[in-house]
Amino acid sequence: MEKGIYDQLKRPLKDLRISVTDQCNFRCTYCMPKEIFDKDYSFLDKKELLSFDEIVTIAERFVSLGVTKLRITGGEPLMRKNLPELIGRLNQLEGLEDLALTTNGVLLPRVAEDLKKAGMDRVTVSLDSLDSELFGRINGRGTGVEPVLAGMQAAHEAGLKIKVNMMVRKGVNEQEIVPMARYFKRTPYILRFIEFMDVGTTNGWNLKEVVTKEEILKTIQTELPLRPVRENYYGEVASRFQFADGENEIGIISSISDAFCSACTRARLSADGKIFTCLFASKGVDFRTPLREGATKKDLDQMITSLWESRTDRYSDERRIDAGKKEKIEMSYIGG
Ligand code: GTP
Ligand code: 5AD
Ligand code: SF4
Ligand code: SF4
Repeated sequence: MEKGIYDQLKRPLKDLRISVTDQCNFRCTYCMPKEIFDKDYSFLDKKELLSFDEIVTIAERFVSLGVTKLRITGGEPLMRKNLPELIGRLNQLEGLEDLALTTNGVLLPRVAEDLKKAGMDRVTVSLDSLDSELFGRINGRGTGVEPVLAGMQAAHEAGLKIKVNMMVRKGVNEQEIVPMARYFKRTPYILRFIEFMDVGTTNGWNLKEVVTKEEILKTIQTELPLRPVRENYYGEVASRFQFADGENEIGIISSISDAFCSACTRARLSADGKIFTCLFASKGVDFRTPLREGATKKDLDQMITSLWESRTDRYSDERRIDAGKKEKIEMSYIGG
């Protein structure tokens, strides 16, 4: 086995996803329904948030223990002030190979160049439809498609590589699968379809609303033939398919119909400093308190190692139909 630390199911710790805020300028119906995430919702307090120093300290320990990929998430991570400064500091960590960000894209025109200059390699932009009316309803803010496409364009011009995430929910946007595939085929961006997942407890998830990987593939193939291609790296979440004419590829993220827990190498850090070893966890381990009480690098390494080495999470593999009732953290809190 390679160097690094392994969990109970022999999975190495390779990625850390860092949420920098639980706030978002959208209210996507499947993530932050506006009836729940309204003005009375209690978001994290400023003093509860990890500072950049604290984030860098924790990320550095993870990288020293074998993590090679960092992904910045939210909420909407571009709502965190001075984000390029954090990116610049993370980019200096010895051993880091990939620095990415997941965003809804609308704030990209303002910061894309600064992110690239700071060392960001690539961004993943969420877009669930090309129909502005429908997209506005899904994002809960009436925002059309144009600002998101403009964000992608700005990122592209700044030299960032781009992927596009489309969450597919039956009865909402499955009619957009083919138009999205056709549109992004002609661009330098890689489109990925995500099965609607039972993350959190507020999005009213129901198995009947899931469009499965096989259904998505079949739908696209009626117009655009595809062939499977091998994964880019161990533990890649998306299954890859290339268009038969060789122009571009797509990915499908099938947490529901074809789970990928057996190669799950991801840990997640919440904006208030808790580490979660699964997207569907109900509890995290608090790193902020020990950090603020003077924990040394060695203490932090021990905390990470014992947490990872005892890990047995495989929620999607074991998912049950009544899973919606389990206590779970929200997507907007942990960043997907
Ligand atoms: P690449 O780095 O480009 O391979 O993408 P990624 O899959 O790491 O990142 P992204 O943030 O774009 O994730 C896409 C979707 O996959 C999001 O909806 C995530 O919530 C979901 N996802 C990512 N990791 C996991 C995971 O470990 N488990 C589950 N169930 N879903 C995940
Ligand atoms: N199911 C599937 N994908 C989701 N996302 C947010 N909530 C869900 C859900 N319940 C997606 C967002 C974004 C990515 C981080 O996760 O659309 O692209
Ligand atoms: Fe939508 Fe992403 Fe914001 Fe959730 S965090 S409401 S998925 S834009
Ligand atoms: Fe990893 Fe949990 Fe997702 Fe499985 S459900 S792939 S263990 S984060």
